Order: sequence, then C-alpha cells, then structure tokens
Amino acid sequence: SQPLTIAEFAKKIGKNVTEIIKYFFNQGLMINQNMVLSEEQVGELALEYGFDFKKETSLTKENIFEQLDEETDSPESLQDRPPVVTIMGHVDHGKTTLLDAIRDSNVVGHEHGGITQAIGAYQITTKVGKKITFIDTPGHEAFTEMRSRGANVTDIVILVVAADDGVMPQTEEAIDHAKQANVPIIVFVNKVDKPGANIPKIKATLMEYGLVAEEFGGDIPFIEGSAKFKQGLDRLEETLLLIAEFGNLKANPSKLASGTVLEAHLDKNKGPIASVLVQRGTLNLRDVVITGSTFGTIKSMENENGRKLSHALPSQPLVITGLNEVPNAGDRFLVLNDEKLARQIASAQMLKKQEAERIAKQTLTLDSLKMHL
Ligand code: GTP
Ligand code: MG
Repeated sequence: SQPLTIAEFAKKIGKNVTEIIKYFFNQGLMINQNMVLSEEQVGELALEYGFDFKKETSLTKENIFEQLDEETDSPESLQDRPPVVTIMGHVDHGKTTLLDAIRDSNVVGHEHGGITQAIGAYQITTKVGKKITFIDTPGHEAFTEMRSRGANVTDIVILVVAADDGVMPQTEEAIDHAKQANVPIIVFVNKVDKPGANIPKIKATLMEYGLVAEEFGGDIPFIEGSAKFKQGLDRLEETLLLIAEFGNLKANPSKLASGTVLEAHLDKNKGPIASVLVQRGTLNLRDVVITGSTFGTIKSMENENGRKLSHALPSQPLVITGLNEVPNAGDRFLVLNDEKLARQIASAQMLKKQEAERIAKQTLTLDSLKMHL
C-alpha cells in the first residue's frame, strides 16, 4: 500500500489542504501537509468528510489508500434513487398523521404519548411505481438537533403548517433548516377541515420568510389538505415526484455502503439497534460497519415493517443490529469490511471523544468555580 501525505490525500478527495490541517489542529495536532497519514486517520477522515471506498475488493488496512474513491462516480455507475423527503413543522401540526396517511398505516396509534420520539423513516411505493423515502421529525422544542440532522440527509422538505394555528416557532426553525440544507421546500397547509383555518394568512406570513407561492410569482408549491381526512395527498405525491425528477437524483449502488444514522437505542435483548439511511453503495448483511466510535458486523437488517432484508440500496432506510455500542444519531456510517481496521478506527475515535469530554468537563468546572467566586 502506498502511503499518502495530507497534501496528496486532500487532492485525491478534492478538498483544500488547509481544511484537513485545520481538522487535525482542532484536535490539538500540529501537522503540516507533508505528514503521512495513518490508515486509521484515513478512516477517520472518511467518516468526517463523507467520501467513499470502492467495491472491487473489500477494504483492508493494506489497500485502504488504493480503495479511496478519488473521483466522483462515473456516469455509467450512477442509478436513479428515490428522493429522501423530510417532514418538518411545528408540534402537533400533523406531521406524523400526514406520513401515516401516506403510508396508510397507523403509526400515531403506536406512539408513546403521541409525540414522535425518534426519527421514523419509511419508504413507500407510489401508484406509479416510484419509491419515496420519508423521514418524520418531532416538533417538540427538545428535538431541534434531531430536526437539523433530518435536514442534512434530505432532498426535499415538506413544511407542514396547520391552517388553524399558522406559522409558529418550530415552523420558522424548520424553514431555517431547509434553507441551510439548500433543498426544495413544499408547504403542506394541513387541517383545512378545521374551523378557523386561515390559508391566506399563512401564505402572507410565509412570504415574509421568503417562501412565495407559485400563484404569487414564487416557486414554492403550496398544497392544501387534511392529513386526517386524507385530502391533498395525491397532489402532494405528484409534486414530490416532479421535484425529484427535476433533481435527477442518482447514486452509485455498486460500492461499499455509506450513509447516516437516524436514530439508535439499546434493546435489552438485541443490543444496540440503529435506524440508518443508506445514501451511497449497497449495504449487505455481514458487512463490517463503522460509525463514530462504534463498529460491528451487521447481524440483522429489517425494513420499517419488520421485514428481513439481505441488502439495502441508496435512499433506503432500515434498522440494523450488530454494532457493539449505541451509535450517535446524525453520525455518518461506512462499510469497510475489515474488522481489525474498524476496531482501530473506532478506538481512535473513542480516544478523541474521551479527550473532548475531558476538556468540556474541565471548562465546566472552571465555569462553576468562577460562579462561586
Ligand atoms: P409532533 O410529532 O408531536 O410534533 O406532532 P405532529 O406534527 O406529528 O402531529 P400529529 O400528527 O401527532 O397530529 C396532532 C393532532 O392533530 C392529532 O390529534 C391529529 O389527529 C390531528 N390532526 C392531524 N392532521 C389533521 C387534520 O388534517 N385535520 C384535523 N382536524 N386534525 C388533524
Ligand atoms: Mg409527530
């Protein structure tokens, strides 16, 4: 294996050298561009910057540098992938009910306390045979972080606004996230069946946030409907598919998978369970996955309905088991099919995490000391 310097590495993945140097600097490492990277550091940078590894052979410590996917995928390797749509909006405006209506199932009924506790992710097949992936986000204030993560993996945002309640704090916040993610926004004005529904007011208010309806010369589709009474759903789906087609969404399925952890928790019997979204490549049963400071061999893969899967394609959400610890939601994952290397990268990340925690704790103690002075 041919070792790479930071400068060569940066060139290979199309990043500025100073960015990589800054990355190490922030961890307290003083380095220069001629420093040779270790295999662990390459893995770490892969997680940080989200580049991929080729599929031809499995990735090992010996071939990690050659396997680095230096270029954007060739046009022939790219295939259509379903759009990933995130549903955002203020608490109780009807996000889960809308998703539920679209899925024609009943997630609301199973939810604890009626609040979506975690990002639910589902894939549907529309009447015209096209797939769409939906990510539900909770509207509660405590979940700002989670919503921003939802925005990061998304191609399209559906902003749900209850017609009787109007634009509220988490509506504004969702607009911010969508703007940061730089993705198309569709406004779904929900609960039009309710007395007190004031659609013109919502359109006027959203205009102040730069969301101008098509009828006023803007480019934001406004769809009026009712999640509860299943109104407006066909138009919503059509609009989503249209925007997706326009976006020409593609990914290369024939490489080692990478993607994002949406949610994770510890199950008493099954151990760490993570719901993940594949964004590139194909994820297979028995793949060795690394994410943050945890890793493992995938023991089971299931879709949102509990159906067993042997592989998962780009834009597909699924639930995996086999990781040795509960990963962080929002972290990237990648497959590298070398357990020893995965373990090394994970433990390097763990050390980093512990160091960051130690420093945070020190600062905290210092702050609390100051407070007592
Ligand atoms: P959080 O996840 O807690 O942020 O809420 P949410 O946005 O997912 O709202 P949810 O789907 O849980 O709906 C909240 C309430 O509004 C429920 O009681 C729904 O039945 C009701 N609701 C949702 N859509 C409609 C609608 O179109 N019309 C009416 N009348 N009620 C609706
Ligand atoms: Mg909900």
